[in-house]
Amino acid sequence: MTTAAKEAAYDVKDPALAPEGRRRVEWAGRSMPVLGLIRERFAKEQPLKGRRLSACLHVTSETANLAVTLKAAGADVVLCASNPLSTQDDVAAHLVRDHGIAVHAVKGEDHDRYYRHIQAALAHRPDITMDDGADLVGSLHMIALNRMDDLAPPVRRWVESLPKDARAALVTGVVGSTEETTTGVIRLKAMAKDGVLRFPVIAVNDSETKHLFDNRYGTGQSTVDGIVRATNLLLAGATVVIAGYGWCGRGVAMRMRGAGANVIVTEVDAVKALEAQMDGYRVMPMAAAAPLGDVFVTLTGDLNVIRVEHMRRMKDGAVVANSGHFNVEIDLDGLKQAAQGPRPARPFVDEFVLDGKRLFVLAEGRLINLAAAEGHPASVMDMSFANQALGAEYLVGQGAALSRDVHRVPREIDREIARLKLAAMGTAIDTLTPEQERYLASWDLGT
Ligand code: NAI
Repeated sequence: MTTAAKEAAYDVKDPALAPEGRRRVEWAGRSMPVLGLIRERFAKEQPLKGRRLSACLHVTSETANLAVTLKAAGADVVLCASNPLSTQDDVAAHLVRDHGIAVHAVKGEDHDRYYRHIQAALAHRPDITMDDGADLVGSLHMIALNRMDDLAPPVRRWVESLPKDARAALVTGVVGSTEETTTGVIRLKAMAKDGVLRFPVIAVNDSETKHLFDNRYGTGQSTVDGIVRATNLLLAGATVVIAGYGWCGRGVAMRMRGAGANVIVTEVDAVKALEAQMDGYRVMPMAAAAPLGDVFVTLTGDLNVIRVEHMRRMKDGAVVANSGHFNVEIDLDGLKQAAQGPRPARPFVDEFVLDGKRLFVLAEGRLINLAAAEGHPASVMDMSFANQALGAEYLVGQGAALSRDVHRVPREIDREIARLKLAAMGTAIDTLTPEQERYLASWDLGT
């Protein structure tokens, strides 16, 4: 073990898993050329030198490449899990042992341990935070607003043990934060609207080089992968019901159709529903789709999208999964009350019996692509995490000048990431001729 690793406080499953983790991280790194270029520049320029950075992200091989990039930039990094089931234990071990990064994440951790890990990230007293679902920023704001009852017990106990000025410094010390996912951005925009947001946040999710690719192609492919790995079901000829036709839902619908499934979409937004209909899918309310589906996937960021009243109408053997950020999209509490079970059927598959019919819930309703598969392919995370890394650099440079609001990664950075990605893929594109530039900027030429 290196000296750095000895010094780092960490909580991972088993540091001895490091060699396997290193192979995985290297494998992912091969598909992350844009982040690789940023890492080279960061190592020279040290834009995050002396900064304390706490990141609450899915601890996967792609995230490891980001963490190493942030460390190369000079940051002192602490990493905790943003979901109890998404950690790759060997990757966590590799970061601790080979890079001396303090990781607090164990796959399958219970509620208490999950929040002890969040507490470790807060105790790092970060200047910059990175979130995937706003758990760090959410906790910091509960502390700022003195809403101790809204903190998870391990975090509350720790905060209550701090002197008052140290509590206040936790929040005032933050220059800004970045947020990875749609659900987190929605929470943060609500905080900004209520005037309670205490520092600027960069909504990485809102970059075009993030949601157009990560949410659509990344979630699309990896959600299908997670469902297939968990169940080994044949998708060809199956009826798959997709709740939510946003960026993620579009991607899953597209890939399910490619696998031969008959896709039904449920929506609450008339425009998205119309788009799904014209993309060639059947569109109907969940109550109508319930008796038709063999597989159900929620990707809405919303609460109780599949309820017991729907589950009662499902076929014997229906499979229900979620790929939205939180495990709130399927009413599992209601199901547990109404049904017998859960009885483990295979890893990540729980059987319930409801009105004499079997129902299979995958990964306890948590993100199926991260729980049962490996999350997004590295090639899309390359762009998402390029946005994270450049977003952190931007915060350090501009944070003091930014309002306490939710901001986008500047458009020129977004474009530059796309340009670098295309270059890495060996794809050249045209550039505007001077004549075309003049034409597109004018209203009276060429008519
Ligand atoms: P989005 O905002 O583009 O789409 C969500 C869609 O769900 C909207 O069209 C909305 O009208 C619809 N919706 C809301 N309530 C509904 C209901 N009751 N029934 C049917 N439709 C409903 O959001 P996006 O980017 O597609 O993200 C969706 C969720 O997936 C979020 O929680 C996000 O954080 C999460 N996410 C998960 C990833 C993963 O790895 N599994 C990756 C990226 C995002």
